[in-house]
Amino acid sequence: MKAAVLNSAPGQLDIEDVQLDEPGPNEVLITTKAAGLCHSDLHFMEATYPHPCPTVLGHESAGVVEAVGPGVRHVQPGDHVITCLSAFCGTCSMCTNGNMSLCERKRIDLVRQPDEGSRIRRGDEDVHQFLHLSSFAEQMLVHENALVKIREDMPLDKASLIGCGVTTGLGAVFRTARVEPGTSVVVIGCGGIGLSAIQGARIAGANKIIAVDMLPSKLELAQQMGATHVVDASSNDAVAAVKDLTGGGAHYSFEAVGLPVTARQAFEMLRPRGQATVIGLIPVGAEVTITGVDLLDEKILTGSNMGSNQFRTDMPRFVDMYLDGKLMLDEMVSQHISLDQINEGFDDMKAGKVARSVILFD
Ligand SMILES: NC(=O)c1ccc[n+]([C@@H]2O[C@H](COP(=O)([O-])OP(=O)(O)OC[C@H]3O[C@@H](n4cnc5c(N)ncnc54)[C@H](O)[C@@H]3O)[C@@H](O)[C@H]2O)c1
Ligand SMILES: [Zn+2]
Ligand SMILES: [Zn+2]
Repeated sequence: MKAAVLNSAPGQLDIEDVQLDEPGPNEVLITTKAAGLCHSDLHFMEATYPHPCPTVLGHESAGVVEAVGPGVRHVQPGDHVITCLSAFCGTCSMCTNGNMSLCERKRIDLVRQPDEGSRIRRGDEDVHQFLHLSSFAEQMLVHENALVKIREDMPLDKASLIGCGVTTGLGAVFRTARVEPGTSVVVIGCGGIGLSAIQGARIAGANKIIAVDMLPSKLELAQQMGATHVVDASSNDAVAAVKDLTGGGAHYSFEAVGLPVTARQAFEMLRPRGQATVIGLIPVGAEVTITGVDLLDEKILTGSNMGSNQFRTDMPRFVDMYLDGKLMLDEMVSQHISLDQINEGFDDMKAGKVARSVILFD
């Protein structure tokens, strides 16, 4: 089957032929129908985050179950599914406490053991699976706890976005920060993640929703998704603008870029007791600094891993919200591309041309 392989980082993706093993115990073979391009994939291509190569990238996908291995009972061939990199073991202290997106054993129990052989191969060579998924491929072989079954009337290109960006943005608002109705919310960075956080803030009933980006086209989209105010950070001081718009600082801020400077801004633009949630992936080794005296205002700075999701519960709800007209996903898909166009898709992301590009597989 065809897959987009990262052979070395930094580097581009090569479309190559790779092979998947048969589904083993608790594994599911999925025919990929759609996969979104997320900025996190780009971080690994640019080597700001490390991963062993060769690997097949991609982690935002939806598809149809092709076959199941021994012990899999909750899905069967033909079922429509969304995948999630927040694979959970179900038995560690994080999982049993309801924080399965922080599962302590997912890299131990949910991967193949050394004597079981690799899930993905290229001839005689092992190919590393990326974040339990490797979605930029015609098929995926995943652990059963890395997917959720969804309604069959859900279009799978929109469903794929729920696999990462939508769940991360909505989850950061609903689960990590637990935004209260009537409050003020700032979202810095209006790509797929930030636009989802803006929608989360709208659905949660925030009163003021301030979108910050450097590109007018992104700010326009942000307004469509529910932003009540916009700040163009290319020509304005974002912190001063937010303090002005909120009369002193926001209740909540969300950083959806992945830079130390914007993480610091997110903290600085808060009112006392406000909470900044950093969603963006800060490059490994980079530090985020804050001014110590600001801690006297009892402000909170935290991160959010995949929106603190409980994805088996959350994703079917997000599907319902889309089909009931409460969650805008059509507007988030800027373009459909083929697997062969994947490097151009990432170029478009770097140029800020798209909210999301989605690969459709035939
Ligand atoms: N924490 C998680 O679990 C998680 C999950 C998915 C993605 N992410 C991360 O979230 C971040 C956003 O992902 P995305 O796919 O939406 O990216 P994207 O590239 O589509 O969007 C980023 C946006 O930030 C804007 N931007 C860049 N610099 C800015 C600045 N200085 N001030 C304001 N805006 C600025 C860009 O114009 C763009 O609109 C990435 O770092 C990604 O890796 C984290
Ligand atoms: Zn992602
Ligand atoms: Zn666990």
